[in-house]
Amino acid sequence: MAKLLAFAGSTRKQSFNQSVLDVAVAGAREAGAEVTEISLADFDMPLFNEDEEAEHGIPASAQAFKELMMSHDGFLIASPEYNSAYPAILKNAIDWASRPAGDEKILAAFRGKVAGIMAASAGGLGGLRVLVVLRMLLENLGTMVMPTQRAVAKVDTLRNDDGTISDEKTIKQLKALGKQTAELARKMRADS
Ligand SMILES: Cc1cc2nc3c(=O)[nH]c(=O)nc-3n(C[C@H](O)[C@H](O)[C@H](O)COP(=O)(O)O)c2cc1C
Repeated sequence: MAKLLAFAGSTRKQSFNQSVLDVAVAGAREAGAEVTEISLADFDMPLFNEDEEAEHGIPASAQAFKELMMSHDGFLIASPEYNSAYPAILKNAIDWASRPAGDEKILAAFRGKVAGIMAASAGGLGGLRVLVVLRMLLENLGTMVMPTQRAVAKVDTLRNDDGTISDEKTIKQLKALGKQTAELARKMRADS
């Protein structure tokens, strides 16, 4: 069984990206994956500063996040698009997770892992542009990013009052992404 870690690059209460992430998570679970869904709000990481790291080491919150990544086979990540790229909270978390502590292997949180990525926006592109740079970032760190990805446009029109996604086609596509990510993670785990 594959183990996936799921998180959104938004901590907003009514986050669109959390809504789409929840659907992909459901798809992965239906495919038999064990999914740990977390909020970056629970891992309060300071803005990365190399001097601070040299003096105080990696903060406990960042180390805990990195260890969660290390202990999973892959990731489901839903990211808002901020000015065509990822929000600082997501990049900051990834930067911290890329820093080895003790005898950890280089980029152990990323290498050999698989990621399914998605975005959501009220705009017409659905945050498509953030997926370009998020894919590049993750691949450069050694994570294989699923060729399928989802950018959910006009997501504000596709939700129920409780924030859950209402649109059947969107649900089908997001669940498929979750399922495919789980299946590839399972195969990569079996081969390693
Ligand atoms: C600083 C900033 C920049 C943004 N830039 C974009 C953008 O380039 N493209 C886009 O579709 N939406 C953009 N937005 C709007 C976000 O899509 C919107 O805030 C969305 O709700 C964020 O995702 P969330 O609901 O998961 O928090 C931007 C929002 C902020 C705060």
